[in-house]
Amino acid sequence: MDIKSRIREIENFPKEGINFKDITTLLKDSDYFKYSVDKMVADLKDKNIDYVVGPEARGFLMGAAVAYALGVGFIPVRKPGKLPAATANIEYELEYGVDSLEIHVDAIEEGHKIAIVDDLLATGGTVQAVAKLIERLGGKVEAMEFLIELEFLNGRDKLSEYHINSLVKY
Ligand code: PRP
Repeated sequence: MDIKSRIREIENFPKEGINFKDITTLLKDSDYFKYSVDKMVADLKDKNIDYVVGPEARGFLMGAAVAYALGVGFIPVRKPGKLPAATANIEYELEYGVDSLEIHVDAIEEGHKIAIVDDLLATGGTVQAVAKLIERLGGKVEAMEFLIELEFLNGRDKLSEYHINSLVKY
């Protein structure tokens, strides 16, 4: 199945010069959605994953489906102020400025094996921050799964210590 055929490209969104990869067209197609989730699950099958972690917001869409299909629980990483219980927070660099993400401190325990699932690997800043949060709580990042990898942004360069699987590359 040609996953790219179900990813819609939108020129100049959200700003001039960016060719946005719209995954809503893939999610809407039951066969392709299932195929994509199953490909991630196949890659994770032999890794004894305890939990899937997915970052807000599009990481929830793929991540929760992968967790369900793999038969494990899902842990959300959210933008600041959204999680109700005690959180750990990490700041990370954007192209211009900084952003931050949060996880519940009691979501992960020492030695838990974690798969991070997101829709997109671009600069790698988001997933690197998520990995650091997980590791700070004692978790071990066993794999990173992405629907899309934008290879020209070289996100993998800062993630050389991790297993990375991306279903399609641009
Ligand atoms: C997008 C995408 C990834 C991240 C990848 O999320 O879903 O999480 O950017 O970019 P990076 O590799 O350069 O860090 P976004 O921040 O747009 O949030 P959203 O899913 O809530 O739209």
